[in-house]
Amino acid sequence: MTDASTTAPVTAAHARRGVFEVGERVQLTDPKGRLHTITLEPGREFHTHRGFLRHDDLIGAPDGSVVTNTADVEYLALRPLLSDYVMSMPRGAAVVYPKDAGQIVQMADIFPGATVVEAGVGSGALSMSLLRAIGEGGRLLSFERRDDFAEIAKANGRAFFGGDHPAWTVHVGDLVETLPTVVEPGSVDRVVLDMLAPWECLDAIGEALIPGGVLICYVATTTQLSRVAEGIRAHGGFTEPSAWESLVRGWHLEGLAVRPEHRMHGHTGFLITTRRLAPGVVAPERKRRPAKGAYSDVDPATAGADVPADASASVRGSTAATEIPAEAWTSEALGERVKSDKTIRRVRRSLTGTSDTN
Ligand SMILES: C[S@@+](CC[C@H](N)C(=O)[O-])C[C@H]1O[C@@H](n2cnc3c(N)ncnc32)[C@H](O)[C@@H]1O
Repeated sequence: MTDASTTAPVTAAHARRGVFEVGERVQLTDPKGRLHTITLEPGREFHTHRGFLRHDDLIGAPDGSVVTNTADVEYLALRPLLSDYVMSMPRGAAVVYPKDAGQIVQMADIFPGATVVEAGVGSGALSMSLLRAIGEGGRLLSFERRDDFAEIAKANGRAFFGGDHPAWTVHVGDLVETLPTVVEPGSVDRVVLDMLAPWECLDAIGEALIPGGVLICYVATTTQLSRVAEGIRAHGGFTEPSAWESLVRGWHLEGLAVRPEHRMHGHTGFLITTRRLAPGVVAPERKRRPAKGAYSDVDPATAGADVPADASASVRGSTAATEIPAEAWTSEALGERVKSDKTIRRVRRSLTGTSDTN
């Protein structure tokens, strides 16, 4: 490293350029397209059932090199992109996939210098995209109620950026309780939620956001989507929410056989956005009435005829998703594959050298 690069901030472009250095992660692609990620250490070897290759053959080699192992198997060696990194890094909780992280950065209008609040942090995958978008002049305040996940996320961020990102602070605690102790009311530009019950945080977020600020939530199921949409409406201080999902289908490209891949990630999650109204402002009345029967205790026979403009508000609290008691919204009930405490301890230990709970 040159003198200039040692004094450069950890996120500077130099960390993404130049020859492979000790401590860097390198992604190896074998002749069958299988990926292996290794962290370079002098004297170490990468073994497979067909031979091994020496890390020393990669240290000092340019990005995009081809190295051959002891059994003459060729590996393409590349510095992982952020999208590669988040898919291969150690995980505590499920991560936001790159396709959704890209949508979040764009649709929540995450800009350089922004003050962004994020919860929960999980494994830190989304945090890294947010940090890249705000840059070193921004602030990412991330909230996570599990200290083991917070440790895993910070270690993942450190490994990717090559040090602690100067714009990132991770607070351990519940967002609703901790947010007011950390930010001034009306001082946050953007809020990004990836958690089980984002509707529980709407009052706290309404306080924290600047007028016009954006809230975006990532949820895995339609029941959560419905619950958060109704919560946003019932709050009264937000614009009408809009929701969508994105499907990305890879393509097979070989000679004349150019077609969609047979397999794809059919579902990741839904995104829903809204914007904070100025204090005291009431959202303009919706001109379109809810569809007949959209709210369960509206009599379908009369709902379309003479429903007063604010009738939907009075029945919102009774839609199916909002009737579900708080304790019923668990990760298991929403179909998430929850990692055992033992696995989480192992991931944390592999990243930080400790699995202490305090
Ligand atoms: C799916 S994970 C987030 C994954 C993360 N976005 C990523 O890309 O790696 C959801 C996290 O939210 C945390 N969480 C849930 N409710 C929370 C709350 N009210 N305050 C803080 N963290 C919360 C959970 O502990 C969990 O780690």
